[in-house]
Amino acid sequence: MGASLRHLLEIDDLSASEVRRILDLSELSDPPEVLAGTGVVLLFEKPSARTRTSVEMATVQLGGHPVTLRNEEVGIDTRECAEDLARLFSGYGAAIGARVFEHHKVERLAASSSVPVINLLSDEAHPVQALADLLTIRQSLGRLDGVSVSYVGDANNVARSLGIGCSLLGMQFRVSSPPGFGFRPADLERIASGGGTVEVFEDALSAVSGADVIYTDAWYSMGQEAEQVERRAVFADWRVDEALLAAADPGAVFMHCLPAHRGDEATDGVLDGPQSRIWTQAHNRMHTARGLLLFLLDGED
Ligand code: CP
Ligand code: NVA
Repeated sequence: MGASLRHLLEIDDLSASEVRRILDLSELSDPPEVLAGTGVVLLFEKPSARTRTSVEMATVQLGGHPVTLRNEEVGIDTRECAEDLARLFSGYGAAIGARVFEHHKVERLAASSSVPVINLLSDEAHPVQALADLLTIRQSLGRLDGVSVSYVGDANNVARSLGIGCSLLGMQFRVSSPPGFGFRPADLERIASGGGTVEVFEDALSAVSGADVIYTDAWYSMGQEAEQVERRAVFADWRVDEALLAAADPGAVFMHCLPAHRGDEATDGVLDGPQSRIWTQAHNRMHTARGLLLFLLDGED
């Protein structure tokens, strides 16, 4: 356990050098078993394929045991308040991970926990995704400094953490969303405060022109399924297809946090094409989960 208790609720809870350190730790070939004899407790209010599996596997790779609980079992704030659950699980595991609807819930867990709390996705943020995204960009392009990342689509949790992470590492972040689905001014300020650049474009084509990375995510996130039909119509001009990708730099890579709604936010040709890095990105979720746990638990700060 490090000297000071750290949580990861949003990517800028870390400094730029700490993010770089986590990316380096993620690529360690023989990580120390910092979780031997203990483990992590993972709470899920929403479904997950990548997050649950990647954190569970990372825990095992560090010698630990993961315990995963769906909200139906623990009833956060219905059976027992978030604060009491944090106090409880602090005594069982070396870290707590939580995927929640309201971001405030991970803040409440962190405030009452005596072990690190990791946000595994809230309606506001997806910092563990951003770590995997940054590692994937570094591996694909060989650098992060000055790289231009164009996010096309819904300015959601994934986009926000990506933007904040890119800016923190001195990258250029560009974004284009349909009217009414873009970032709030406070989000743009938080992204810009990282030190990189952030530019908002009215149309997707302008946003991706000459960019190094094209990124998109679902047009409707978990909890927004009822808006599916309406959102499909609104977002149609923000689909990443072969023509849009061709407007990026010829060496550009395509990224998506997954799960993909194939044919909506991106075509099969893009998702499965030569510029796509979606599977490297998904697999990097496990490597960066391991790097993050090492950083949080091994005094790597
Ligand atoms: N990208 C991501 O977090 O995927 P899951 O929802 O499957 O965990
Ligand atoms: N924006 C998506 C990301 C899923 C990993 C959601 O919140 O459902």
